[in-house]
Amino acid sequence: MYICFTQQHVPYRHTSHRFNDIILARVFSHSDILELSKHATVPVINALSDLHHPLQTLADLMALEDHFGDLKGKTLAWVGDGNNVLHDLMLGGAKLGMNIRIATPEGYEANAGVLETTKKLAAENGTEDVFTTTVASEAVKGSDVVVTDTWVSMGEESEYESKMKAFAGYEVNANLMSQANSGAVFLHCLPRHPEEVTDEVFYSDQSLVFPEAENRMWTVMAVMAAQLGKL
Ligand code: NVA
Repeated sequence: MYICFTQQHVPYRHTSHRFNDIILARVFSHSDILELSKHATVPVINALSDLHHPLQTLADLMALEDHFGDLKGKTLAWVGDGNNVLHDLMLGGAKLGMNIRIATPEGYEANAGVLETTKKLAAENGTEDVFTTTVASEAVKGSDVVVTDTWVSMGEESEYESKMKAFAGYEVNANLMSQANSGAVFLHCLPRHPEEVTDEVFYSDQSLVFPEAENRMWTVMAVMAAQLGKL
């Protein structure tokens, strides 16, 4: 079996999918994944684009199910950038009947189309609590899961200074976690930077970041096996 891991900037018409059984692609622009899947004759798995990061969500939801069991009615709070990781957590969480509470700074909101789909999925799956705010504590209040990610995603390095200013007050710390429900847990897809979450939270018993990281391996293997007809 041949697996092709494509890299950003590979011209897709040259990607050797004729010689591969499956393509796992990590790209900048989501349109590149769409273009690749249009030309490919084998399954194309999105291993990260600027709009979506579905494999991360599978790992996250697996960590949460292992911890809580059924996630229906649990509340997931996001504190941070309106980015690819958030988008798939919104969609995946809503599909499992989770309430979604999102805090993003002004100008860094989740994609409007993804938000609309999330509201639809939430209603279909028995919860309509999809709440957005610019205040971190408002999102965290009453939540069972608090999630954040890097404030500066791949390809946004030139925005570092402006994002540091815009995200002031978005650090996940013990005070913020204390506003969540008792027994609430913390997730971060890694790599983690110090401004996003304190050591006290990151290394606490509330933190599921290490099972979450391990699950990236199991879930990508499962997705590839399923796409190859092995499950
Ligand atoms: N939002 C981050 C996720 C890294 C795993 C990025 O796109 O860089």
